[in-house]
Amino acid sequence: MRLLAISDLHTDFAENRRLVEQVARADYKNDALIVAGDIADQLEIIKRTLGQLREKFKTVFFTPGNHELWVRGSEWNSIEKLFKIQALCEDLDVHWQPSKVGGVWVVPLFSWYDPAFDIEEPDEELHGWADFHLCRWPREMGEKFEYFFKLNEPNIRAYDGPVVSFSHFLPRIELLPPRDTLRFKSLPNVAGCGLIENQIRLLNSVAHVFGHSHINLDLVIDGVRYVQNALSYPKERRTPGLAFKEIMRLEPFLPADQR
Ligand SMILES: [Fe+2]
Ligand SMILES: [Fe+2]
Repeated sequence: MRLLAISDLHTDFAENRRLVEQVARADYKNDALIVAGDIADQLEIIKRTLGQLREKFKTVFFTPGNHELWVRGSEWNSIEKLFKIQALCEDLDVHWQPSKVGGVWVVPLFSWYDPAFDIEEPDEELHGWADFHLCRWPREMGEKFEYFFKLNEPNIRAYDGPVVSFSHFLPRIELLPPRDTLRFKSLPNVAGCGLIENQIRLLNSVAHVFGHSHINLDLVIDGVRYVQNALSYPKERRTPGLAFKEIMRLEPFLPADQR
């Protein structure tokens, strides 16, 4: 019984869809999976992928990334689409709110990027960033990163067990390599939000899973383990196949009679 993590499945690519379809049900039937955003933008594909994961894993947790909130030419705005995705999760029994699994609380955190995450100014190339063209926001929502941060507030409390949190976006700038080594130099301006880090510390998380940058890592900063395990786009992948990352074994946190 394990808690595993993946992000950025991007199953709008047929190759990634095949990798999810090939996941063997027998291997994960007792495990819980965190999916830290960016499955796809089309609702049908999000539904199919979450449904397939739900068949293979005992428990699935999900929070949307930026791709889920693309609305293209549809009649909904991005927040209306968020509500549709939450309803979809309810139908599929996918957790988008905190839930306890094997004695450990898994706490999803909504997030969006704060342009001030990095002090350096973005390059001109940022004008082409897809979210600016494919998301549509209600006029009254204010700053997006503050809106999403506030959605988490009811869940920032004490929990009776260890907490593993997760978000799509990065909580700390140190989780990105230096700007001059990035292929997309403006990524730090659309990558994260320090308010998430405050919530992680208030939750006393032992580990935090995130996605979005498609740069995998596993490191401890000030006592919290930060993990990214993104499948990424086929052309970016350095290792073949789909491997879920183990965050922890869950048996030690169960009452003795349930282990
Ligand atoms: Fe992604
Ligand atoms: Fe993303």
